[in-house]
Amino acid sequence: MDTTIILVQEEDGIVNLTINRPKALNAINSAVMSGLNDWFSEGYKSVNGLKGVIITGSGEKAFVAGADIKGFSTLTAEEGSQLSKFGQDTYFKIENFHVPVIAAVNGYALGGGCELAMACHLRVAAENALFGQPEVNLGLIPGYGGTQRLPQLIGKAKAMELTLTGDTIGAVEALQLGLVNHIVPLESLLEKCISILKKTSRKGPISISKAIRAINASYDPSVNGYEVEYKTFGELLDSDECREGVAAFIEKRKPNF
Ligand code: CAA
Repeated sequence: MDTTIILVQEEDGIVNLTINRPKALNAINSAVMSGLNDWFSEGYKSVNGLKGVIITGSGEKAFVAGADIKGFSTLTAEEGSQLSKFGQDTYFKIENFHVPVIAAVNGYALGGGCELAMACHLRVAAENALFGQPEVNLGLIPGYGGTQRLPQLIGKAKAMELTLTGDTIGAVEALQLGLVNHIVPLESLLEKCISILKKTSRKGPISISKAIRAINASYDPSVNGYEVEYKTFGELLDSDECREGVAAFIEKRKPNF
């Protein structure tokens, strides 16, 4: 992975991945997408005691302003589908990651940038955040899962409207629609994400990863989410992690996960 194009910082098990193309408003080119794919496939394994991940963009203007449009003009249909599929596969890795991933949205989150934020488990927006799927302005549709995740998060009617108009919405409307979890001042953005990840890191790590899987199962037509839930619930009940959690409750102490 090119660590100049995705900056990796780690403190106490919390990793900050910063997409670092500020002159292009952090647009996702092939190096950025490959870097994300590499990190969520293998790169994370070098972090001891990984607790959570924050994804953000370099500078104060943009999270990610989309896929890099400048690379589009020479692509064939086959190459375009491959680009879209690789982006989808990368974002699935983020969506199914075993520790929480938070998008710290510090400005434009457009097209593939909005889709990246939606693939994360939670989204914290700075007051200057702007969201949208403007692909129809380019004669395109969202290609990194946006046609699927936007209706999952905000419902079909608003997803249809945003996608068909290409309109951009601010942080307040995004919060009202359920697209983001919190709005904070830009200077508090990372602090808010870290405080959420510190809270989740005090819970049972296996139950955190299984909760992510079970919730994601409710959007996967190839599995029965309720079956995933009851089987997982049983497995967890018969685990050391749950035995410790239950014992700690009964003994009126903090669990030692
Ligand atoms: N791809 C490539 N370059 C981009 C970019 C993108 N998505 N977004 C911005 N840039 C570049 C601009 O070309 C410009 O570069 P130059 O200085 O070399 O010309 C630089 O970033 C700064 O951008 P602007 O001068 O345009 O900044 P602005 O403040 O005037 O406007 C903006 C900001 C409204 C975000 C505007 O840049 C814009 O509309 N960007 C495109 C947004 C977009 O359409 N995103 C969707 C892309 S398609 C996609 O993502 C498909 C998918 O789902 C997979």
